[in-house]
Amino acid sequence: MIRFKKVWKKFSSDHAVLKDLNLEVEEGETLVILGKSGSGKTTALRLINRLIDPTEGEIEIGEENIQSLDPIALRRNIGYAVQEIGLFPHMTVEENIATVPKLLGWDSKRVNQRIDQLMEMMGLDSETYRKRYPLKLSGGQRQRIGVARALAADPPIILMDEPFGALDPITREKMQKEFLELKSKIKKTVVFVTHDLFEAVTLGDRIALMDQGKLLQVASPRAFVENPPSAFSDEFLGQHRFQLSLLTQTIATCIEPSIGKQSEGFPRLSPNTTLMEALDLFREEKVQTLPVFSSASFCGEVKKEKLLDQVLDLLMRESKHEPTDP
Ligand SMILES: Nc1ncnc2c1ncn2[C@@H]1O[C@H](COP(=O)(O)OP(=O)(O)O)[C@@H](O)[C@H]1O
Ligand SMILES: [Mg+2]
Repeated sequence: MIRFKKVWKKFSSDHAVLKDLNLEVEEGETLVILGKSGSGKTTALRLINRLIDPTEGEIEIGEENIQSLDPIALRRNIGYAVQEIGLFPHMTVEENIATVPKLLGWDSKRVNQRIDQLMEMMGLDSETYRKRYPLKLSGGQRQRIGVARALAADPPIILMDEPFGALDPITREKMQKEFLELKSKIKKTVVFVTHDLFEAVTLGDRIALMDQGKLLQVASPRAFVENPPSAFSDEFLGQHRFQLSLLTQTIATCIEPSIGKQSEGFPRLSPNTTLMEALDLFREEKVQTLPVFSSASFCGEVKKEKLLDQVLDLLMRESKHEPTDP
């Protein structure tokens, strides 16, 4: 658990960049800090690995005040991935990934195995890419290596600062999907900074909304979309509300008991599947019904028609929130 207690940060005497920040990040969750440029997101993140220190207040990890820890030792337990600039340009891919494991004194066999394992996890052929320099990689590949490096020594905490910000929209969406898969496999505490509302809603277990150095709200993506702080509701959500609801609402209310056979061989939905994911699956599979499983147990089915009704209903309701003038 990471805990900000009454944290203030000033870079000059007359202006506070963070104002009385109180925030807890639970173990194993992905907390997204969302806010406009200049709202203090990066500052909050850099306080966690002591790249900077608070002007007032405390930050605890576990029960320990991090001011009492050696910053270098602290950083070995915290992975850090940032946009582009993250990789050392004069080091090869393998040297980049091996940085922290080497600092920790791992032997070369263990380091090598870890590099192979991480590259496989990131979908990059180890043979082909190990000896390359970052400049000889695409933006998406560099980003993957950045994430691999952040994970290298298996730290319990990962900090990510707009890690997909410099990517084109398609690569970005792909990286977000991969992040979600990875997240379900490795239970880490992740603090993820972004100014992108869709990214926040897609990736976060919870969203912490910042504005001008103040924390406005911490909520689940669904609660956030349904009930944003009033000052932000139009500017932040506006006409996107419908799309956002598709990303945050689940198929739970569309599940019906099945009378037929349990459609073997089809992809499975779960009660947590979002409306958007279900729409995508129905489109890909060209079927009228999909089975729903909770872990291994069958819990019913969803009919495409019922799903579309629900989506339509949502569209009608959300359109009432909106100004009529586009
Ligand atoms: N090292 C610094 N020195 C002076 N001002 C800074 C420094 N770092 C950040 N700031 C200022 O703090 C504010 C918040 O910055 P930042 O945390 O980077 O915002 P965000 O990541 O949300 O865009 C900005 O006004 C920025 O100019
Ligand atoms: Mg920033």
